[in-house]
Amino acid sequence: MPTEYNIAELVQKLGNNKEIFESAKEFQDMMMRYECAAMEIETKIKILNEEFSLRTQRNPIESIKSRIKSPASIYEKMSRKGYDMTIEAMEQHLSDIAGVRVICSFPEDIYAVARLITEQDDIIILEIKDYIAKPKENGYRSLHLIVAVPIFLANEKRNMKVEIQFRTIAMDFWASLEHKVKYKKNVENPEEIARELKECADIITSVDYRMQEIEHKTSVIE
Ligand code: GTP
Ligand code: MG
Repeated sequence: MPTEYNIAELVQKLGNNKEIFESAKEFQDMMMRYECAAMEIETKIKILNEEFSLRTQRNPIESIKSRIKSPASIYEKMSRKGYDMTIEAMEQHLSDIAGVRVICSFPEDIYAVARLITEQDDIIILEIKDYIAKPKENGYRSLHLIVAVPIFLANEKRNMKVEIQFRTIAMDFWASLEHKVKYKKNVENPEEIARELKECADIITSVDYRMQEIEHKTSVIE
C-alpha cells in the first residue's frame, strides 16, 4: 500500500509549534500503525474472497482499496470538532484514519463478507451503519463498519480502528459521482442535480437486485 501521507505537509500546517513538531515522530508511528491495521483487514478480506471463490466458483469481491487519511484532513477534522491536537485524542476520536473500501459483486455478498469478517475472534465491532437497509436521504448506499483489529509490533500488541465501507460496483459508481458533484462550485441548479442523483440511486438499487436475481437463476448448483 503506498504511503500517502507526508510529514512535511503536517509540519507546514502546524507552523512553528515546537511541541507538536517534536511529536512528528510519534505522529509518523501512529500513521504506520494505521497502515498496518488497514493491511490486516485487506488481507483478511482477500482470504475470505479466495475461500469463497473456491466454494462457489465466483468472486464475491470485485476490488479492495485502502487509504490512510492525510495529515491535513486529520488536522482539519480534529480542529473542526474542537479536540486536542494529540495522538491520544486522534486515536480516540477519529474512526476513519484507516479506511478500507470493499467493492462487492452483489448486495448479498456485502452482508456475507461483512458477517464473516465480524465473526472473526480477533475483530471487535465498534459500530455498524447500514446505509443499504436505510439509505441516506440523498440516495447514498453502503454498509459501514468501524472495527478494531490487533496489530503485532516488536514490543506490543495494539488494537487499531479501521473503517470498512462495503458497496456494490453500482453503489460505488454513484458515490464517486455524488462526491465529485458535492465539491463542485457554481453548480447552476443544485436542487435539480440532487433530485436526479436520488433518482439514479433508486434505479441503481433496482438494477443491483435484478442482477442478483439473474445470478441466482443462472448459478450452477453443485
Ligand atoms: P464523517 O465525519 O464524514 O466521516 O461522517 P461520519 O463519521 O458520520 O460517518 P459516515 O459513516 O456517515 O460516513 C463516513 C464516510 O462514508 C464518508 O467519509 C464518506 O467516505 C462516505 N459517505 C457518507 N455519506 C456519504 C454521501 O452522502 N455521499 C458519498 N459520496 N459518500 C458518503
Ligand atoms: Mg468518517
